[in-house]
Amino acid sequence: MTGLFDFSAFPRLTTERTVLREWQPGDAADLFVWRSDPEVQRYNSEPMRDVTEAAQLIDELRGAYSAQRGIFWAVTHRGDGRAIGLFGFNSWERRHRRAAIGYDLRRNYWGRGIATEALAAILSFGFTRMDLNRVEAETIADNHASVRRLQRLGFQREGLRRAYTVEEDGTFHDSAIYGLLASDYRRLRPAHTVRSPDRRE
Ligand SMILES: CC(C)(COP(=O)(O)OP(=O)(O)OC[C@H]1O[C@@H](n2cnc3c(N)ncnc32)[C@H](O)[C@@H]1OP(=O)(O)O)[C@@H](O)C(=O)NCCC(=O)NCCS
Repeated sequence: MTGLFDFSAFPRLTTERTVLREWQPGDAADLFVWRSDPEVQRYNSEPMRDVTEAAQLIDELRGAYSAQRGIFWAVTHRGDGRAIGLFGFNSWERRHRRAAIGYDLRRNYWGRGIATEALAAILSFGFTRMDLNRVEAETIADNHASVRRLQRLGFQREGLRRAYTVEEDGTFHDSAIYGLLASDYRRLRPAHTVRSPDRRE
């Protein structure tokens, strides 16, 4: 796979432990597992209540790709091919060569380096095939797992929207804005190298 990305074929990416591929209607039951989990959804939308909501989201993700508005990968486990994460780029502004990332992972895969591995793959894709100059991410400031991932990958905190959302505790939470420039990425690339998988994999 070389040259600039033009949406002609879905960009399948492979990492040591995962394959990032196009969402399929048959993934709805797997997506529902973590999108209905209140712990995973704590800093995100309301947990889903019915698998039809997952099917509808998959339709939207596929529609966004067809309309060339975004690229959303199903992160699948290489062992059994089942979807365990939703990672992708939205708001791709071609003129300004920037896009925003989003990511969430099924809870029993947390703390194993899978998110780091998948993020490294999509950032590499963004800075090479999409020719991005900037990748941004916005996260609730006290979503520590998310903030830590971004910092570990070299993202810099650029701003804070104070009291931006009301979370499940009924209080206002700040939202933090992070950015990673292509120049940062080239300089920090060794930090994106993922350690060997731990014994749990
Ligand atoms: C955000 C989210 C994807 C981060 O997942 P995660 O499991 O913390 O991230 P990783 O899979 O990369 O795991 C990292 C940790 O695994 C451990 N680890 C174990 N084996 C590892 C390996 N082979 N390589 C790297 N880290 C490994 C390390 O302790 C590492 O933490 P550290 O780098 O801080 O030391 C996850 O918390 C999530 O889905 N949250 C809910 C959804 C959400 O909030 N999304 C963000 C919305 S903005």
